Amino acid sequence: MKRIGFLTSGGDCQSLNATMRGVAKTLYQKYPDVEIIGILEGYKGLIYGNYKKLKPSDFSGILTQGGTIIGTSRQPFKKMREPGENGIDKVKAMKSNYKKWNLDCLVIMGGNGTHKTANLLSEEGCNVVTLPKTIDNDIWGTDITFGFQSAVNIATNAIDCIHTTAASHSRVFIVEVMGHKVGWLTLHAGIAGGADIILLPEIPYDINKVVAALNKRSAEGKKFSILAVAEGAISKEDAALSKKELKAKRKNNPYPSISYQIGKEIEERTGQEVRITVPGHTQRGGEPCPYDRVISSRLGSAAAQLIIEGKYGYMVGFQNNEIVPVPLKDVAGKLKMVDPNSSIIKETKGLGISFGD
Ligand code: F6P
Repeated sequence: MKRIGFLTSGGDCQSLNATMRGVAKTLYQKYPDVEIIGILEGYKGLIYGNYKKLKPSDFSGILTQGGTIIGTSRQPFKKMREPGENGIDKVKAMKSNYKKWNLDCLVIMGGNGTHKTANLLSEEGCNVVTLPKTIDNDIWGTDITFGFQSAVNIATNAIDCIHTTAASHSRVFIVEVMGHKVGWLTLHAGIAGGADIILLPEIPYDINKVVAALNKRSAEGKKFSILAVAEGAISKEDAALSKKELKAKRKNNPYPSISYQIGKEIEERTGQEVRITVPGHTQRGGEPCPYDRVISSRLGSAAAQLIIEGKYGYMVGFQNNEIVPVPLKDVAGKLKMVDPNSSIIKETKGLGISFGD
């Protein structure tokens, strides 16, 4: 009889349950007596020994349910080699629980940090299969991550709602979209929502260029403007600083986030009223959109197939409409960022949208 452990790690997203259901349904087809255990709250459960047995009925009715039925937590990879509670050796504890629970494979759903730890466990001899989860869509080796499209829908809806009020009041509106290191979500929501200016971490902005784009719109008789700004948007000036210098500068920064700083600068330079909206964690909430349900089901099924074939040490990635196994060692430690010279950026610029660069 097979025994498989499911683990969801890092920030949640809408489609985690749909993904687990996809893996489970496929496994139950092949092995009706497979035992699936849910490791609670991500790697924390694997380290401290917390899990619950899952039954086939636990996977019923969760295709449309956001969040994760087994909980999640952030357990930074860089701290995995540091002692945990009561001096516990985390890596040793994870390996020992894997053995104690008699697992044939760990099915791990997570983002970049999660993949580094998954690769470490694989290198340490555990059988691991992973699935790419994150609203940020920044995992290397896959064109798309599950959760991304649902978050795009929510961020786009936020911009859509702002559009009508912005038009009534003749103001500048900033919608701050999640994504500290990469701007996929902001880019897609910005295009879909018809933003006039999109600011991404990968394309440092010049505030003078942002102001010039706003003034151009005013000169054309446009009464309002909308900016889609990533959490991690950065000015050219700040991007030129070393990590240490930037940290010191940000220590004295009075703004709660980058959008407030940009908003203040715009008000001072243009005299236009600015309002800021931060949809925050609503972008990870609610039910998965149909597109995510489809890719989660497909990825889930493909991950189970790897287990059936005994092919471990892989992430199931989505490339050119096909699902392919991608070696974990290739995925771990890399980020899939927006390339400023890519065609999507050129096309977006072609639409007259400014990146402030
Ligand atoms: O990684 C997903 C993400 O939602 C990022 O877009 C965001 O910057 C971060 O997580 C927020 O993390 P937390 O939920 O820990 O505040």
